Amino acid sequence: MKIIEKEDYTELSKEAAKIIISQIKKKPTSVICFATGSTVLGLYKELINKKNKVDFSKIIAFNLDEYLGLSKNNKQSYNYFLKKKLFNHINIKKQNINLLDGSTKNTKKLCIDYEKKLKKHPIDIIILGIGVNGHIGFNEPGSKFNSKTRIINLSKETIKSNSRFFKNIKEFLKKAITLGISTILKSKKIILLASGKNKAEIIKNFLKGPITEKLPATALRKHKNITVIIDKKAASLLN
Ligand code: GLP
Repeated sequence: MKIIEKEDYTELSKEAAKIIISQIKKKPTSVICFATGSTVLGLYKELINKKNKVDFSKIIAFNLDEYLGLSKNNKQSYNYFLKKKLFNHINIKKQNINLLDGSTKNTKKLCIDYEKKLKKHPIDIIILGIGVNGHIGFNEPGSKFNSKTRIINLSKETIKSNSRFFKNIKEFLKKAITLGISTILKSKKIILLASGKNKAEIIKNFLKGPITEKLPATALRKHKNITVIIDKKAASLLN
């Protein structure tokens, strides 16, 4: 595992963008799985800033997770987020964007189909954040390390933490669809980003504590090609 400590959030975002851009330059047809959340915003801004220097037209995109029950036009949906914060600003082809649809009725089929698509297009690089409870995607504590794409009940901690993005529609914040841990681990390369003081405790437990399903991110420590990029504040409890 490679751990890169950066001075601050801006530097962290630049470092992550460098990795993504070099991946696309090396392999223009790269399959990339994108996370949502506040941590990745700086990275996406950096990618947009560099859009004249990088060709996104051949990449294939997937998203990591989505709230169940939100239509893709709902402003709180991850579908909307990724389009608004990244895809609408770069020359990615619409037909190459594969997003989980939270309004799907047949969720079992959705999960199976998504796994099939991912088998056909193995992920070259996946971008992850980490929840304050150690979740990756929406794989909440207790998620099996061999889990696949599925529906999950959100934990109380996640609901509390993510309710900052919601105003009146907390009722939607109960269930989600997420790539499973085994699905994430199949990615050829993983980058995980964490920034700020509120991530310091979980980063310490993720990197130094036991590998356990109680802290889903610890599954990543078994991966052969993972880079963790943290800023000083997130790294503050490591030594
Ligand atoms: C959210 C999402 C994840 C995200 C993580 C960190 O709940 N399910 O995809 O990476 O938790 O979010 P943030 O970057 O806002 O702290």
